[in-house]
Amino acid sequence: MSKVLIVFGSTTGNTETAAGYISDVLVKHGADVTLKNAADVEAEGLARGWDLVLLGSSTWGDEDVELQDDFVPIYENLDKAGLRGVKAAVFGCGDSSYPHFCGAVDAIEERAQEQGAELVAGSLKIDGDPERGEIAAWAETVAAHV
Ligand SMILES: Cc1cc2nc3c(=O)[nH]c(=O)nc-3n(C[C@H](O)[C@H](O)[C@H](O)COP(=O)(O)O)c2cc1C
Repeated sequence: MSKVLIVFGSTTGNTETAAGYISDVLVKHGADVTLKNAADVEAEGLARGWDLVLLGSSTWGDEDVELQDDFVPIYENLDKAGLRGVKAAVFGCGDSSYPHFCGAVDAIEERAQEQGAELVAGSLKIDGDPERGEIAAWAETVAAHV
């Protein structure tokens, strides 16, 4: 059974809801899924021991891209996470009326790639309230790799 870690940073609960929808699909495919709030996670060694790591953060700020508060220390120490060669994908909620729609998702994806993560799917950028159908469709593409 594949071991999947989903780490989410979520201020108003949207990215947390999305993480739950993703988990539902992966569990349906037989994965052993652990959901963790970014507030409770240390970046150091985060990716070790997992077959797949999904990183989720909403985007804040306006002119500048800001990651969700709890995700900032993980992002800043992602080089210590042990991502090299680990399957990964990135998701998050945002609002397309802002200049940098889901900028946090792009920033995390870029850094994860720099750290040698094996991205198994393009990122999922959720505009507005998370909808199960859209999120489940993305999770199905990820599930092909667990
Ligand atoms: C002050 C403020 C700034 C925001 N900045 C951005 C932004 O730059 N880009 C974006 O895509 N969404 C932005 N958003 C939208 C949030 O990312 C969106 O509400 C998201 O669903 C919050 O997810 P969460 O509940 O998981 O934290 C902003 C929202 C607020 C209130």
